[in-house]
Amino acid sequence: MPSLSSWFFPTLLCFLDVTFAGDPFFFFDWTISYITASPLGVKQKSQGTRQVAPTAAEEQEESRMLKVIGINGQFPGPTLNVTTNWNVVVNIKNNLDEPLLLTWNGIQHRKNSWQDGVSGTNCPIPAGWNWTYEFQVKDQIGSFFYFPSLNFQRAAGGYGGIIVNNRPVIPVPFGLPDGDITIFLSDWYTRSHKELRKDVENGVDLGVPDGVLINGLGPYRYNDNLVPNGISYQIINVEPGKTYRIRVHNVGISTSLNFRIQNHNLLLVETEGSYTIQQNYTNMDIHVGQSYSFLVTMDQNASTDYYIVASPRFVNSSWARATGVSILHYSNSQGPASGPLPSLLGEDDPSFSINQARSIRWNVSAGAARPNPQGSFKYGDITVTDVYVILNRPPELINGKWRTTLNGISYLPPSTPLKLVQQFKILGVYKLDFPNRLMNRPPKVDTSLINGTYRGFMEIIFQNNDTTVQTYHLDGYAFFVVGMDFGVWTENSRSTYNKWDGVARCTTQVFPGAWTAILVSLDNAGIWNLRAENLNSWYLGQEVYVQVVNPEKDDNENTLPDNAIYCGLLSSLQKDQSHKFQFSVGSPFCSNFRMLLFMLFIALLESLSGIFIGKEFVYVQHAGRI
Ligand SMILES: *[C@@H]1O[C@H](CO)[C@@H](O)[C@H](O)[C@H]1NC(C)=O
Ligand SMILES: *[C@@H]1O[C@H](CO)[C@@H](O)[C@H](O)[C@H]1NC(C)=O
Ligand SMILES: *[C@@H]1O[C@H](CO)[C@@H](O)[C@H](O)[C@H]1NC(C)=O
Ligand SMILES: *[C@@H]1O[C@H](CO)[C@@H](O)[C@H](O)[C@H]1NC(C)=O
Ligand SMILES: *[C@@H]1O[C@H](CO)[C@@H](O)[C@H](O)[C@H]1NC(C)=O
Ligand SMILES: *[C@@H]1O[C@H](CO)[C@@H](O)[C@H](O)[C@H]1NC(C)=O
Ligand SMILES: *[C@@H]1O[C@H](CO)[C@@H](O)[C@H](O)[C@H]1NC(C)=O
Ligand SMILES: *[C@@H]1O[C@H](CO)[C@@H](O)[C@H](O)[C@H]1NC(C)=O
Repeated sequence: MPSLSSWFFPTLLCFLDVTFAGDPFFFFDWTISYITASPLGVKQKSQGTRQVAPTAAEEQEESRMLKVIGINGQFPGPTLNVTTNWNVVVNIKNNLDEPLLLTWNGIQHRKNSWQDGVSGTNCPIPAGWNWTYEFQVKDQIGSFFYFPSLNFQRAAGGYGGIIVNNRPVIPVPFGLPDGDITIFLSDWYTRSHKELRKDVENGVDLGVPDGVLINGLGPYRYNDNLVPNGISYQIINVEPGKTYRIRVHNVGISTSLNFRIQNHNLLLVETEGSYTIQQNYTNMDIHVGQSYSFLVTMDQNASTDYYIVASPRFVNSSWARATGVSILHYSNSQGPASGPLPSLLGEDDPSFSINQARSIRWNVSAGAARPNPQGSFKYGDITVTDVYVILNRPPELINGKWRTTLNGISYLPPSTPLKLVQQFKILGVYKLDFPNRLMNRPPKVDTSLINGTYRGFMEIIFQNNDTTVQTYHLDGYAFFVVGMDFGVWTENSRSTYNKWDGVARCTTQVFPGAWTAILVSLDNAGIWNLRAENLNSWYLGQEVYVQVVNPEKDDNENTLPDNAIYCGLLSSLQKDQSHKFQFSVGSPFCSNFRMLLFMLFIALLESLSGIFIGKEFVYVQHAGRI
């Protein structure tokens, strides 16, 4: 039986850590379940005596109501608001009817891909089970988000924000804003994520979204013909004269969205963990999986409320209904917003968008998560060790199934995650033979990884052969976006690279018929997912993993977590899980006095009765330093 101190001591430590400026632990307890929500409204049911069977469409809408994924009943989920170097412990209970993993988009998990929450690193959490993530947000700052990574589930929600704040000793290159607001943009279909993935498997184009949500809510009724009555929309309340930091994430399926606030400038200050050159924009194209922070000053006269708009990019007029609209409401506002939405100059002009993307640059003199300025890493002077030109293609039939490929390979996830295969030295599950160019051979489905060189410096050129914008994301790293242009990349394209202040981020867009070049320093050992963020491309196989092994033993990766779930070839190692005991904690744990009292109470119970109840808390002890 564990002694009282075996689990109680770490709790005390957590208080001490705060006091003595160590790296404290923060605990979150999340239940993931379907919730009742219908962001785009439900058709009014006929009242009174009429007795008719519901139409198919009504039935579909009814069923859709129960197919939004919430976290602790919230959609979007709670914000993970933490500070650089904190240890985060998130206990996830999967109350869905299918397996689940959450991934932490942009969190680098230094030497700890065990916590990355994608199919190559973790066995899925079976329905009805819980699993506890433990990771440190090491040497990072900025705006990120989490989402469910399997089975198209992000199309049903399950996402939320991650804010990593600076430690107080690190200066921020702008004044403290008067408020901090997170905005999620997403294209949305009234079909469930299960129906959507079936369509994608069958090669059916998803078509025009039924709407664009802002913070999980439908559009404000800016136009009676396009927006039905009775839809709840987001209202952002602000005070005149104040400046807010607005963090905007595109967490949708596949639609690039242009974000703008009527009559207000967006001063770009940060993207995915890097401080940018501070510039005003009237609008910003935000592609799937990307995150930006803007400072917005409430400098208008509040003659009315103002529209906040997210409209699809590079589409035709049949997409008009798919426009996200919410309301910016000054406390002294004179009345509602009315009239047409603020228009977008340069609409449908990809060169406008590519120029805007090129204008986003790193502020090389701003401080980063660590005290050294972020520009002290002069990436332009480093010799490239490996070059990958990665070409994506639109869906095609391979062995009778619709698949997408990168360099002609459609990723096949093995039943045993790559990390476990590596740990247990199982042979023949994956190969380190991902080609660095498109090969002259038919496309295939395979488990082929990139063999990354530890501390190597890799150049990746994404060449988009599809007809829509794609975004690519690399876990475990931030990369420098050094070039982007239309046409086919050649060696000569390197002369156009930005070798000085390309922004370091984790998700980049690649325009159709265009290329984007990134540079990345492979200093984080692990097996890391490189994927299309666009869900339909990803779901059909557009991903690959990069294995990075440190050949030296002294600075090695974290060990296999004690609570690892086993599956596939290792499923015999897995014990069944039953829920003996549940607790729910407000966050953060350390400041929760009631929790402390509760634990004291349990301790008392344990010491009195000798019941093995304390066992459930033992995991706290293993939340070791990373
Ligand atoms: C995040 O937490 C800090 C305290 O650690 C607090 O000052 C800040 O207001 C919080 N931000 C949000 C958006 O809740
Ligand atoms: C499930 O949650 C309990 C606490 O309720 C925790 O003790 C246990 O370690 C969790 N299981 C896993 C595999 O993380
Ligand atoms: C870059 O960061 C520095 C240091 O915080 C700041 O003084 C400067 O204004 C920033 N420059 C731009 C162009 O944003
Ligand atoms: C951005 O626009 C605001 C007005 O909205 C202005 O006060 C500020 O000086 C501008 N900043 C830059 C860097 O252009
Ligand atoms: C507020 O500004 C708008 C133009 O931005 C102007 O048309 C309107 O008259 C102003 N209203 C007041 C009350 O000053
Ligand atoms: C508009 O776009 C949709 C989907 O992107 C497409 O199916 C439709 O054919 C287009 N309509 C016209 C008139 O081009
Ligand atoms: C992978 O790369 C390492 C060097 O980083 C090399 O030693 C090893 O042989 C490579 N493995 C394969 C299968 O190519
Ligand atoms: C895709 O590649 C083919 C040649 O393989 C080329 O003809 C076509 O223009 C490319 N399309 C795009 C959008 O890059």
